[in-house]
Amino acid sequence: MRRTLVSIEVGTTKVCTVVAQAPNERSLNVLGVGMTQSKGIDRGVVVNIEEAASAIATSVEKAERVSGYRIDTAYVGVAGRHIASLNSRGVVAVSNPDHEITPHDVARAVEAAQAVAIPTQREVVHIIPRAYIVDGTEGIRDPVGMSGFRLEVETHIVTGEVMAIQNLIKSVQRAGIEIDDLILQPLAAGEAVLSDEDKDRGVVLVDIGGSTTDVAVFVHGGIWHTSVIPIGGSHFTNDLVYVLHTPHNTAEYLKLKYGEAMQDRPARDPDDPDAPLPEANPDDLIDADTLVVGERQKIHRALLNEILQARAEQLVEMIYNELQRSGYDGMLQSGIVLTGGGAQLPRLDELMREMLGVPVRVGRPRGLGGLAEAIDMPPYATSVGLLLWGLRHGQADDPYYAYHQPYGNGYGSYGHEGRVPIYERLKNWMRTFLP
Ligand SMILES: Nc1ncnc2c1ncn2[C@@H]1O[C@H](COP(=O)(O)OP(=O)(O)OP(=O)(O)O)[C@@H](O)[C@H]1O
Ligand SMILES: [Mg+2]
Repeated sequence: MRRTLVSIEVGTTKVCTVVAQAPNERSLNVLGVGMTQSKGIDRGVVVNIEEAASAIATSVEKAERVSGYRIDTAYVGVAGRHIASLNSRGVVAVSNPDHEITPHDVARAVEAAQAVAIPTQREVVHIIPRAYIVDGTEGIRDPVGMSGFRLEVETHIVTGEVMAIQNLIKSVQRAGIEIDDLILQPLAAGEAVLSDEDKDRGVVLVDIGGSTTDVAVFVHGGIWHTSVIPIGGSHFTNDLVYVLHTPHNTAEYLKLKYGEAMQDRPARDPDDPDAPLPEANPDDLIDADTLVVGERQKIHRALLNEILQARAEQLVEMIYNELQRSGYDGMLQSGIVLTGGGAQLPRLDELMREMLGVPVRVGRPRGLGGLAEAIDMPPYATSVGLLLWGLRHGQADDPYYAYHQPYGNGYGSYGHEGRVPIYERLKNWMRTFLP
């Protein structure tokens, strides 16, 4: 059956709405894309609901015009520094007298894992069952039908601040759109750029956005660690503003047109950093504005890249620290996959490969048809991933299915007449098993 899905990514730099039709489970035909500059968002979080809602409405209208499709509901990405995650285990005794594990046992185990104390100002965005343990045998992906006495589940729980989540929901609703589900952005991006094999072998998704970098570690086929690093593309640009004394829009232009994350020929003598720059080849000099109106300057390409490299090295170090914190740094055979606008900085992958000694590639959303050229690039991995998430995990009417798939917290309930949130559906379904 053909389905039409819509995603809205509310980023710090851009708001992007995509309408696509899904002829089957694995592919998407893009019908329309609506992009607009983001407003009212700071570091991934809504700080002004009116402005954010107006940017969302603009992007939705653009996507409607191109696709000819009226947008009522959408899958929406959530991100930002308020996001935290933890791993939690749930344990239950198998209830069936013949000790065959049922979906009901799985549901109880996940419920038990969720019983960890979540502070009142935080709410659950995802509870993702990663693997099951039956009578001490680890690494089971689907325990239903197996025999055992004791069932354990390992889950990854993603939480966010209640206020940040509510403000995002309000902004989307004020733009006239109901939310099918809220999905953690790097998890969505993973759907678009990672293969099942990557996730099995161990891989890190690094989404370098406007002002933050999201990191998600996948091992044994599931997500294990998620975190947010407070550095993004705007930090690179701001460094150029400070060091080169050039206006912000010039700095952004220089970064996009000439920037590289590595420079091979030092612009200056490393033993004498205060010495004047050596005579440059005229091709290596870029004419640019200064902060004084009407005054121009010549910028040495090597200096530009030296500034970008310094920031890139800091980012790579912070990513490395995160990987160590995840406890999986030695097990990531598929290495690192970069997405987000910042991933387009030339030679950033090369720098990372050199510094960390692991495979690094730039991830592009795959499996797209229709107007795909518009979003076939790293900055749109999240938007495409939100659609794929909706396609693969969005029809969780069957509670057993819901417990076997990563699922949201039932944001679909917001304003939907007669639509019961997934979590409520699970509870109702579980009740049917209770005496
Ligand atoms: N070719 C390029 N080289 C370097 N940086 C780039 C390039 N293209 C885009 N960027 C940077 O990518 C950033 C925007 O990335 P992206 O579109 O993924 O952000 P976003 O999703 O809106 O933000 P966030 O995810 O932080 O909320 C900007 O800082 C921009 O300068
Ligand atoms: Mg983003």
